[in-house]
Amino acid sequence: MDRFFAWPHTIAPVQAAMNLARLQVPLLESYLQSPQVHVAASNNPELRGGYFINIPESRADEVRDLLDTIRRDRADMLRFADAIAAGQEILRASATGFDLTPLYPKLPAELGGLVELAYDTDNQAQLRFMEPLVYKSDVYAEARQSVQLSFETGIERPFILSTPRLPSPDVLELGIPFRHPGLEELFKARVRPATLRHLREALELDDAQAVQLSAMLSDRPSLAPDRHIEGGGRIRYFGHACLVLQTPEAAIVTDPFISADSTAGDRYTLDDLPDYIDLVLITHGHQDHIVLETLLQLRGRVGAVVVPRSSRGNLCDPSMGLMLSHQGFPVIEVDDFDEIPFPGGKVTATPFLGEHCDLDIRAKSTYWAELAGKNVFIGADSSGIDPTLYRYIKGHLGTADYAFLGMECDGAPLTWLYQALLTIPIPKKMSDSRKLSGSNAEQAAAIMTELGAKEGYIYAMGEEAWLGHVMATTYNEDTYQIKQINEFLAWCSERDIKAGHLFKQQEWRW
Ligand SMILES: [Fe+2]
Ligand SMILES: [Fe+2]
Repeated sequence: MDRFFAWPHTIAPVQAAMNLARLQVPLLESYLQSPQVHVAASNNPELRGGYFINIPESRADEVRDLLDTIRRDRADMLRFADAIAAGQEILRASATGFDLTPLYPKLPAELGGLVELAYDTDNQAQLRFMEPLVYKSDVYAEARQSVQLSFETGIERPFILSTPRLPSPDVLELGIPFRHPGLEELFKARVRPATLRHLREALELDDAQAVQLSAMLSDRPSLAPDRHIEGGGRIRYFGHACLVLQTPEAAIVTDPFISADSTAGDRYTLDDLPDYIDLVLITHGHQDHIVLETLLQLRGRVGAVVVPRSSRGNLCDPSMGLMLSHQGFPVIEVDDFDEIPFPGGKVTATPFLGEHCDLDIRAKSTYWAELAGKNVFIGADSSGIDPTLYRYIKGHLGTADYAFLGMECDGAPLTWLYQALLTIPIPKKMSDSRKLSGSNAEQAAAIMTELGAKEGYIYAMGEEAWLGHVMATTYNEDTYQIKQINEFLAWCSERDIKAGHLFKQQEWRW
């Protein structure tokens, strides 16, 4: 998106406008003032995951060109972001519980037709965005999108939230939007061979691009022979929050984020995926769970992407459904306890608690999958702040054979991810009190108890090295999260509950 990494806050138009105006443009400006400071900070392990641009000073002119282009070509978006801030200011000053009608003419023209003003029952007024309409307005500029193809080298890419992607000789640049049918043709060639000529036409490549693409293709099949199963059921952990659940008739992938490096040997890769995926389950909109670089490689071989329904129009809660359907994905939106059948089984959406800094974000869901006689709870980053919630899940669906739980119990503060969406400054102390935290040991244990889970596995901790550009985590054995995980594992072993802390790859078969 204008050379920044694509994720919900840079794709969904309302949030993307805010991020561009209030985070990315100031970040580029800061870099241009002192590129050396940014480079030094990017290489300081203590500042990992910070907002520093990791581009050498020798390329500062290219960063200046990017900033100039954004200011010129995205003027509509930048004005829209200013209008949102002005609109919020009008509400703060004038929405005192009385009729809101007189405020409409005072709103900036950019918001016209795209917002409704509404009070909650405590007389707190908010802008509610008509999000599908914003996608039809000038604020949603598909021309922002482009695609870079390169090999996964094992060398960590720069952090996705901070560093724009400049051109590079080993990167094939495609100036096409994500929904371009050529991408689907290209990635389908992983399972069904295609000719270079066909791909060249589908992707509208020039001669130089075609030469570059041909160097990225192979005429030897690389698919794993055991990517399908003949009987029973199987779960495979592909790293982070990505699980592949399979029977002979169906396959489900959760939060796809998959390595392409089939030479690594220590992980499942895109070559291990079944040819057809019935359902992709997305748990929430954080950048490590809805990962376009993997999702785009699956389009064309997925029955549907299941996403949690958002609150519709809330500034902090972009619709995952709208975002993905505009990128060409078949989407099913779900609320708590909605059911989606698949051949030989069923997925039920279950509630997701917390982990979003107490913001009113509804686009988050855990899932319950029933397949080949087993119940699997996919808990993602959902927290155990109120474990009673999980009692309702058990009451509705029974006990879990396998529970997969995230334990990022000391997450980043509110401003790390949501700064650009806040229209009034928030004190650091307040931000630090509202973290992106999942369950600690006690809460994870309570979830296990409430679900009556027979086996529990900690996942979604972002420890695999190939996720570094997204996760930017550094754990060692003294880190609070790791100590909590060990405490949880000890709790399980005292009760003869089978448990584990997943890393790189694992398989369960029955
Ligand atoms: Fe999360
Ligand atoms: Fe996460």
